[in-house]
Amino acid sequence: MGARRFAALVLGGVAAAADLTIPLGLDRFIATPEDNPVRADTAAIGRRLFFDKDLSRDRTVSCATCHDPDRAFTDNKPLAVGLANRKGTRRTPTILNRAYGKSFFWDGRVASLEEQVLKPVEAEVEMDLPLDRALERVRASGRYPAMDLAGMARCLATYVRTILAGDAPYDRYARGGRSAMTAEQIAGLKIFRGKAGCASCHVGPNFTDERFHNTGLRSKDPGRAEKGEFKTPTLREVVRRAPYMHDGSLATIEDVIEHYDKGGEANPNLDPEIRKLDLTKEEKRLLAEFLKALSGTVTEGIR
Ligand code: HEC
Ligand code: HEC
Repeated sequence: MGARRFAALVLGGVAAAADLTIPLGLDRFIATPEDNPVRADTAAIGRRLFFDKDLSRDRTVSCATCHDPDRAFTDNKPLAVGLANRKGTRRTPTILNRAYGKSFFWDGRVASLEEQVLKPVEAEVEMDLPLDRALERVRASGRYPAMDLAGMARCLATYVRTILAGDAPYDRYARGGRSAMTAEQIAGLKIFRGKAGCASCHVGPNFTDERFHNTGLRSKDPGRAEKGEFKTPTLREVVRRAPYMHDGSLATIEDVIEHYDKGGEANPNLDPEIRKLDLTKEEKRLLAEFLKALSGTVTEGIR
């Protein structure tokens, strides 16, 4: 990184990253642990680790195998596929805008990115490499500065924090660019916020409340607190990320809208906001048009 030193303004664990390009529409402030502000040098090391297949036992899988930058940081598969074609039990979530996350994994079982990022390395169905061996490989490669496992976690977490999606037609429209969205998309936005009630959970700059809900899918996954609750995903870049939901059970955006229109499968833990919507065919079409307006610019790393 040498000549281009990175300046981060740290306000009690909240970093306003000077050189980090934050796309239009997103919060300017990214909360980080005090000992891991967003910096260009650690982001670059994290990026190298993210694409490094040596972090899997048989050297065939990197983080990017499942979180593919060309697929909005997911894999377009119903369930994640790890090394030796081992199948996971959940769909690979996108990791766009996780810098704003409050908890991680579909069930939010982990509280920070630093804590999250090494778990896939060890996970049998993902990369299946004991962490001490991962560290040995990193040290032996000659491609990284001296570091320990905590350092690896900090670098990976920092790189993940730089993966940001914004600057979509919606963002330009919301800032007064009246022609940024089509008339159909504007009508779809009204339905999203009004009759369809999507914005009661998909809210704020990242279109998520970061909370957990049972949306009435038929999945047998117990989810959070055994209630079939899963974290509300961002809707950024959503049309590029099929299939959908934690179990990959809904193949298209139209299927997702049908699911919500019917109000999901009745069950004791169903969220009260999930109910029959009685959307007309035209309203469903407009809603789908609006969701297209959430695709814009994706940035990653610091250049
Ligand atoms: C085999 C595919 C696969 C690989 C390889 C993989 N992931 Fe994931 N990732 C997933 C799945 C599946 C989940 C969700 C698991 C769950 O919720 O139980 C996930 C979740 C995450 C999350 C949490 C996202 C959120 O919304 O809470 C982050 C961050 C993440 N992965 C980063 C990484 C990093 C960093 C690596 C490499 C060290 C990596 N992943 C390797 C499939 C993969
Ligand atoms: C009660 C809160 C809530 C409401 C209301 C809601 N959602 Fe969701 N949404 C969620 C949760 C939680 C998930 C993840 C569910 C799962 O995988 O089990 C989700 C998943 C999605 C996904 C899949 C995203 C992905 O990455 O897989 C889309 C698309 C979506 N919702 C769109 C909508 C639309 C459109 C509406 C309005 C018709 C809506 N949501 C209403 C909470 C909600």
